[in-house]
Amino acid sequence: MNIHISERHDQLIAACADHLLSVLAESIDARGVARIALSGGSTPKSLYDFLASPAQAKRIDWSRVECYFGDERAVPQDHPDSNFAMANRDLFTPLDLPRAHLFPMISAPMQGLEEEADRYQTLLSGWAEPAAPVFDFILNGMGTDGHFASLFPNTPALDERTRWAVVNPVPQLATRRLTLTFPVFEQARSVCFLAAGVGKQPIFQAIQQPDCNLPSALLTQRRATDWFIDRDCAGRST
Ligand code: 6PG
Repeated sequence: MNIHISERHDQLIAACADHLLSVLAESIDARGVARIALSGGSTPKSLYDFLASPAQAKRIDWSRVECYFGDERAVPQDHPDSNFAMANRDLFTPLDLPRAHLFPMISAPMQGLEEEADRYQTLLSGWAEPAAPVFDFILNGMGTDGHFASLFPNTPALDERTRWAVVNPVPQLATRRLTLTFPVFEQARSVCFLAAGVGKQPIFQAIQQPDCNLPSALLTQRRATDWFIDRDCAGRST
């Protein structure tokens, strides 16, 4: 784990934005395109607002960025709980990104969840079948239970090794979610977690224990990850 600790929230968002923009710029230089998977949650929202601000927006050529999602809730694209709706409002629209570069997990009108997962699976398989698709950058939040994307503790998607996008039943939330699977997170060129607040401190300590088998811990045990956290999340001992 590469851990970057910021004292204040605005510094945290700026540090994560600097990292994200430099990875995207390198990808555009190397391959002409940058493919990113975004997440939902409250912390990424501040990042999207910052990235879309006029001073930041001109730092890279966003017309070369393709935006996908790491997970999505089972709601239509314009629903207040939709990860796409949040990113669309706070990032895509202010940056005026071309619609052809946006890849929501739920289509409009919304289809059955299994159909949506199959559509995303086909989309990602088009890149590199049979290997897992390689994203240039994946942005994750982490829940207080150690989940990231919609890979929640003790749910079936944790064991998925052959599909890249699945419907995951999440009994703890009495719902089902769409999520990318471990092989995709393992293969990405760069994976970043953004977490803030004292509420995340216990789980941040827990996932650093070598025997922890919560989803965020499993990913950090399997690959390099960049963690952008604030002092409250880090705790004084980190
Ligand atoms: C979602 C997410 C989820 C989120 C974490 C952290 O759709 O909710 O993708 O994995 O990132 O739950 O959320 P917060 O930043 O709100 O704590």
